[in-house]
Amino acid sequence: MINSLEKLEIVKDRGESAQILGACRRRLRRRGIPPAKIRKDGEAAPLKTAKEPGEKHRFEPHFNFGGRKIFNHMDFKHILSTQQFLNKKVLVDIFRRADKFEKADRQGKIPKLLQNKILSCVFYEPSTRTRFSFESAMLKLGGQVISTESAGHFSSAIKGETLEDSIKIISGYSDMIVLRHNEHGAAERATKVSPVPIINAGDGDGEHPTQALLDLYTIQKELGSIDNLKIGMVGDLLYGRTIHSLIYLLSISHNVEIFLVAPQELKLPAKYKSFLNSRKIKFSESDNLESILPKIDVLYMTRIQKERFSSARLYERVKNSFVLNKKLLDKLNKRAVIMHPLPRVNEISREVDDDKRAAYFRQARNGLYIRMALLNLLF
Ligand code: CP
Repeated sequence: MINSLEKLEIVKDRGESAQILGACRRRLRRRGIPPAKIRKDGEAAPLKTAKEPGEKHRFEPHFNFGGRKIFNHMDFKHILSTQQFLNKKVLVDIFRRADKFEKADRQGKIPKLLQNKILSCVFYEPSTRTRFSFESAMLKLGGQVISTESAGHFSSAIKGETLEDSIKIISGYSDMIVLRHNEHGAAERATKVSPVPIINAGDGDGEHPTQALLDLYTIQKELGSIDNLKIGMVGDLLYGRTIHSLIYLLSISHNVEIFLVAPQELKLPAKYKSFLNSRKIKFSESDNLESILPKIDVLYMTRIQKERFSSARLYERVKNSFVLNKKLLDKLNKRAVIMHPLPRVNEISREVDDDKRAAYFRQARNGLYIRMALLNLLF
């Protein structure tokens, strides 16, 4: 038997549940999801994947560069982590757009889709590829860019302004912000105060999601598939944000095996290994680069990042742990692809650059088209 007080509680609970359910449904409808696709529990019905990234692209003759439907399904406003992209339909859409922009660029026919829009690039850490490719992407799409490099010195951060205050101000001057920061979680903090989209362009030793998207796109272009891969990840797996983002993103691939190669001091943090375990992705750890070379399809080298070390002595001890030179190259699978997010220091010798498996400069170029696709989808 339940007493009247308990009955009242149940009625109150039901009322609150109905309110929450109603709010969920309204939120999904605002995102453009038709009522028929909203389940009874207030969640969107799962997407049916029309095509897998491994399959040949089917280009509609009148492919639409605009349209946010795909992103609306994912409730995107900001880009913080590749965990937001674990949906093949979304990846196929981004890759197709990148292909189209590359083709349009070759023909000198990029549509000026972002006229009257302003992108802010706010970089507290140095960058060549990410900042220039975002800026180039925006300009090619007809938009405009305002930008600061070394924001810690050349913005009012030097006078003590907080990240939150800076973002509140900059979001009043622009329609989107690309943010690189030395602190893990900085981009997420920015989203708490920004009325405009924030793109995480690297947050300390956290993530670098747009890099991982261009990495996966490069694998697709170079090998024709993102499935059935054996990939070696080499170098700084502890602080390497491109590694962290790519680990998440690779969980979308079928039948992937990861060989983690790092010095003892720079092993992959436990949370990423737990993620791999939770997705039943096979991985192994070692400090031997040579032994994995004949087995892998993708060799993903990374820099040992001097700037992340608190002790110069420790950096000196591990800085040249792995160097891919001509001698080691002979051991690498003949159809493998060599990737690196760049910049490199000593970990890939210059003599490797002429090998046709060396894809790292093509990879950097792909970043331009992936970032055009992302700007196109987010604006
Ligand atoms: N890959 C990458 O993030 O390069 P930059 O540091 O030059 O942007």
